[in-house]
Formats: sequence, structure tokens, C-alpha cells
Amino acid sequence: MALDLTDIQGLIHHFYPYPMTRHLLFQIGNPAAGMNLLKNLAPLTNAADPLSSTRESLLNVGITYGGLKALGVKTSILKAFPDDFRDEPAQITMGDFEASNPSKWWNGKFKTQQVHLVVHLFGKSVEALEQVTAIVRTAAVGNQELLPTIKQGPIEGKWLGDTPGELHFGYHDGISHPAIRWDDDPIQEGEVDYRHFILGYSTGEIPSTPPAFGSDPDSVRAGELVRNGTYSIFRWLHQDVASFNSFLNTEGPKVFPELSLKDAEELLAAKLMGRWRDGTPLVSSPTAPNTALSKSDNFGYALDDPDGLKCPFSAHIRVTNPRDQVLNHLITLTGGVPRVIRRGTPYGPKLTGTVDDGEERGLVGMFLCANIRRQYYKLAAWMKVNDFSPAFPNQHAQDPLANRKTPDASDQFLIPTATGDRTVTLPDFVITKGTAFFLLPGLQTLQKLADGGFR
Ligand code: HEM
Repeated sequence: MALDLTDIQGLIHHFYPYPMTRHLLFQIGNPAAGMNLLKNLAPLTNAADPLSSTRESLLNVGITYGGLKALGVKTSILKAFPDDFRDEPAQITMGDFEASNPSKWWNGKFKTQQVHLVVHLFGKSVEALEQVTAIVRTAAVGNQELLPTIKQGPIEGKWLGDTPGELHFGYHDGISHPAIRWDDDPIQEGEVDYRHFILGYSTGEIPSTPPAFGSDPDSVRAGELVRNGTYSIFRWLHQDVASFNSFLNTEGPKVFPELSLKDAEELLAAKLMGRWRDGTPLVSSPTAPNTALSKSDNFGYALDDPDGLKCPFSAHIRVTNPRDQVLNHLITLTGGVPRVIRRGTPYGPKLTGTVDDGEERGLVGMFLCANIRRQYYKLAAWMKVNDFSPAFPNQHAQDPLANRKTPDASDQFLIPTATGDRTVTLPDFVITKGTAFFLLPGLQTLQKLADGGFR
């Protein structure tokens, strides 16, 4: 069987190369107003729309558990949803303490429970974005738009350069993706079954909830509701570029005194990520970036770098995808390395230098999966405390992009080298500004919800 791509929202399948994004958040006023909003949106982008779409703007929609409730979905259907989607985002699992504390999210302008619905817009130009925003806002009459930025606006992303990929901190993103098999043909080596991302096809081996089976008709309807949808973990993350740059500037020469200042900064930046800023994997090219390898995703750690001499164990990509690295036995038994689909865009103006300008900037990240606990939470927990592999020498170490305020997590970042271990103390570079868990439903489900189905 091949999935019906016309029923799957576009952003799940592709990262469309549109330079501007806008994420309109709404609190649904009442079921009728919510249904009206869904009914009168501009046409949604589906996964069969080609990457080279000629449309000036694209549109996708997510609904939280609170949003499904606000649309009047029957309680007995809602009950079939898993706790991890029903509950507030787990502060402890994600390490959101102090400045990242959920009580401070959304710049304190509203509470996470108020977030019911998001309309993700992608535009080729400001005009295109404005045009589709006006359509959505007209459709949304009777619902409250939630405006989280300091300037009282929606969250907006924008490429930092002329092409996608560049992030604040200067790294390149969008290189490594799970190779998803979108049909039921046998999985080839390196491929990942679509059931890890698409709901409604749960099996004993790849479970997701609600499953589309059972004797209870409401569970079956819950399975119908989620079919061809995915869970999206929406993370609004602030990046403190000035403190990141000054960290590289002061610590780089201390850790690598044998190098020039520029080279020491670049090597330290690469050690934190596991890739040089152009994307070259450290494991494949440990001493300098290599343009020919900047898009490379074909490497492992177990054989090529067992001691972390090329890529430190706690580097961001070695934690979030340890590849062939040996894992704790229990993790291997429960499905091994979790994979997520990542869709991220930077927001805020580019900053160079070490002086902060007070602007909001960072990453709008969407992490898509079919099982929040087994996939996203697992990765978030690994970032917070790197205790998932016996190969890692410091079981309390952290991913440099995690929040250092987690109790029991170390701020010491270990860099093994041929002449001995070197260590740097990590400051906090990333602050969580908001998190919401959305269901990105299939297009038929959205239609049904708009027509008052599932009530
Ligand atoms: C501001 C925060 C973050 C920044 C700047 C950032 C940046 C990056 C960059 C530059 C890459 C390498 C590019 C690539 O392999 O495609 C990457 C990979 C990745 N990141 Fe992040 N990231 C951030 C937060 C997160 C979070 C919160 C997660 C949650 C799980 C995450 C999960 C991943 C995963 C799974 C990969 C792919 C690793 C691989 O397959 O090798 N990232 N990130």
C-alpha cells in the first residue's frame, strides 16, 4: 500500500523552499467559530504538491488537544489520545528550567493551554504572506489570535541568507533526514517506516495512538481522526548569539592554543555540533571543512571514532542521532535510536559580534513523530543528560544546545584529543520561549472537523 499523499499535509513530506514563514496561533472562541476558521482557510498544501509549487504561499494547520476539545470533539474520542499529547509539555523531560520555565513562555502574554490551533504559513514574499494572513484572519473571526512576540506579533521565520539552511550560530541545517519509506514495500537498509511519523497505521512493532482498531466504536473513530496526521512538537527557541560568539572567542584559544584565534573558534564551534559550520561532518573531515562533504549524511561513530577524538560524544548531532554508536541494552530493546522529521526556520535578524542588541532571534523548530514519548521525549531526555550509551565517558554530560539548568546535569563539555582530554564549561545558549504539541491532521479529517464531525 502507498499512502494517499493528497490526504497528508505538505510540510510533513517536504520542506518547501519558501524563505518566509508565519505561525498564527489561535484560541478557539467556541466550536462554531473554530469550525468556521477551518472551513474558510485558503487551500491547504498537501504532500502531493510538488516541491516546485508555483503557489506564492503554502498553508498547513495544527490543532492541540485543547483545540480538539474546543472544537467539541466527543469526550469518548478524546480519551483515546495518549497522555503525552493530552498533557502539558513535560518541563522536566525537556529540561525547561529557570529562564526556560513554562511560566515564562510566550513572553508571558498568554498561557500554553490557550494555544488551540496554529496556521503555519510559508511565503515566497512578504506580499504573499500578507495576502494569505488576511484570509486566515478573516476566517478566524470569533477566535482570539495569540500574539507572543515582544512587539505583539506572530512568530515569523525568515532565511538568514538567499538559500535555506543557515541558522543563527552560523551552522547549516537541513542535511540529515530520515529516509522514509512512504509505502509498504520492504524496508531497505537505512530506511525508516512511515508509521514512525504517520498516525493511523499502528502495529505491534511500531505502536502509535490512537490506534485505528478495537471493539469500541469511539476508539475506531479516534483512529479515523488521526489517520494520515502526525504529532508536531512546536518549539520556539531563543538563541543567544552574542554569548555564543563570546564563548567561542574566549574559550576557543584556551582549548586549542596551538591554533590561530579564527581556527580555534571554528574548531570549537564544530566540536559542539559534530559538523563544521558549513555542514561537513567532523567524523569524515576532522581538521578542516570540506565543501565536497558539506551535505554528507553517510557516516558512523562506532568504528570511525570510538574515542570521540574526531567528534566529541556530547556533540549535538552525536546525541540526537548516535547512528551506529552502541546504546544501553534497554534502549535497543525499545526501538533503538528514535528518528523525528525536523522542520525549522530561523527567526530574528542576523547578529555578528559579541554585543547583544536585545532583538528576539532563534529557531522555530517543528519535530514530527507518531509517538511523542518514544521519539521526541527520548531525544529531549538524551540532550539533557547523555546517559544512553555505555560508550559515553560522562553520563551526566549534556548536549551543548540543551538547557544547563537541569538538576544533575553537568556543564562540562569534554573534548578528547590525541594529547589528552580538554574540557570547556558551557553557558546557556538556548532558551525555550514556548512549546505546544499539535496534531497536523489529514486533510479529510480537517474537512470533517470543519463540518462538525467527531462530535
Ligand atoms: C536552537 C536549537 C538548535 C539548533 C541551533 C540546532 C541545530 C542543528 C544543526 C545545525 C544540525 C545539523 C544539520 C543536519 O544534520 O541536518 C542539527 C541536527 C539535528 N538536530 Fe538540532 N538544533 C537545535 C535544537 C534541536 C532540538 C531541540 C532537537 C530535539 C530533538 C534537535 C534535534 C536534531 C536532530 C535529530 C538532528 C539530526 C542529527 C543527525 O541525524 O545527524 N535539535 N541541529
